[in-house]
Amino acid sequence: MSTAMVVHSGLEGIIAEETRLSHIDGELGELIIAGYPLEEIAPNATYEQLLFLLWHDRLPSEAEYRALRADLAARRALPTATIALLRAAAQQAIDPMDALRMGVDSLSLVASGRPQDDALLAVAASPTIVATYWRLRHNQDPIPPDETLSHAANYLYMLDGQKPSGARVRAMETYLNTVMEHGFNASTFTARVIISTDSDMISAVVGGLGALKGPKHGGAPGPALDMVFEIGQPERAEAVIREKLARGERLMGFGHRIYKVRDPRADVLGAAAQRFFTDGDGADLYALAMHVEKVALRLLEEAKPGRRLQTNVEYYTALILHGLGLATALFTPTFGVARVGGWTAHAFEQIASGRIIRPKAAYRGPRNRRWPAQG
Ligand code: ACO
Repeated sequence: MSTAMVVHSGLEGIIAEETRLSHIDGELGELIIAGYPLEEIAPNATYEQLLFLLWHDRLPSEAEYRALRADLAARRALPTATIALLRAAAQQAIDPMDALRMGVDSLSLVASGRPQDDALLAVAASPTIVATYWRLRHNQDPIPPDETLSHAANYLYMLDGQKPSGARVRAMETYLNTVMEHGFNASTFTARVIISTDSDMISAVVGGLGALKGPKHGGAPGPALDMVFEIGQPERAEAVIREKLARGERLMGFGHRIYKVRDPRADVLGAAAQRFFTDGDGADLYALAMHVEKVALRLLEEAKPGRRLQTNVEYYTALILHGLGLATALFTPTFGVARVGGWTAHAFEQIASGRIIRPKAAYRGPRNRRWPAQG
């Protein structure tokens, strides 16, 4: 095989572009977001501050921060047609991730075609789409967005109608910040491929959502929590996990293409979960999850020696979002609500680069087939 025809299956290890948005070192377990170590910025910044940082490569001034908050707040309400679409989707109880994708798609009804405006629109309206769909699906009236609340606080408010405590907002914000940006993952790459053709921002976000949905990417936290619930008691962990591995199942929340040590996002979310679950059922669940994690890591090393399968972000995502009262079906859409910030930032970078993304495939099929003679 000539060098030109070496196939990098899954594009593993391929550097396809340059970025200022994040740096991942999978051997050191390090994630830097626009210059800041994740553990420094995620538990301290607001969603809007981090979004501004990704879009502009610096933190906002006080006036810029207020302006961004106002710009987002002004775009939270959904077009009537989007609400009608979500109502129809709720009647069929479709997957909330599909509802989010369809809802974002319908924002083209009010999009301007200008990347900056449409990025604001996609970021601002995504939480409203998720919350509106969720309430309609449970025969509840949607709660209109509250312009006075921050992005994270308003999302929690639209889900259950309660003005959230500072601790709940901080926990949600830490989660959203932790997963907003993460290099050339599958959904971000998808969004960049789409915008690289000079397509539009809404299409890029819709494509990102499609890629995020799968369990090998953003669809794992629900099943990760299901496993902890299924185990129920610490003493059952070993038997249940052994059975799963013997059946050839993958343990959700473990393994990563890039991280060969513990995913640093798992640490940030684990610490946030620990702060949040100080007592009661949450603390018991946290203790159980920690035990399950330890057993899972030991048995993964036994079943797949040398694969270095470690805890990934999805494991503690499940715990923190469950602690915030979100149903399992909302975990992946909430990941989408966060990641739309990263997708739009990458789309801006890709627009600036101006180059269409167009790799090649090595043809392995036959060459000499002939169309059957007629008659
Ligand atoms: N449980 C059991 N075995 C696993 C797991 C797991 N979670 N992950 C990988 N393996 C095994 C595979 O079966 C394979 O074994 P084999 O070589 O004996 O066939 C080996 O480890 C390598 O697996 P690959 O699929 O080649 O690794 P890849 O880097 O392509 O996959 C992925 C990474 C998709 C995340 C994988 O680890 C996985 O499926 N994990 C479970 C799902 C999950 O947690 N997804 C969330 C990822 S984080 C995120 O995207 C936000």
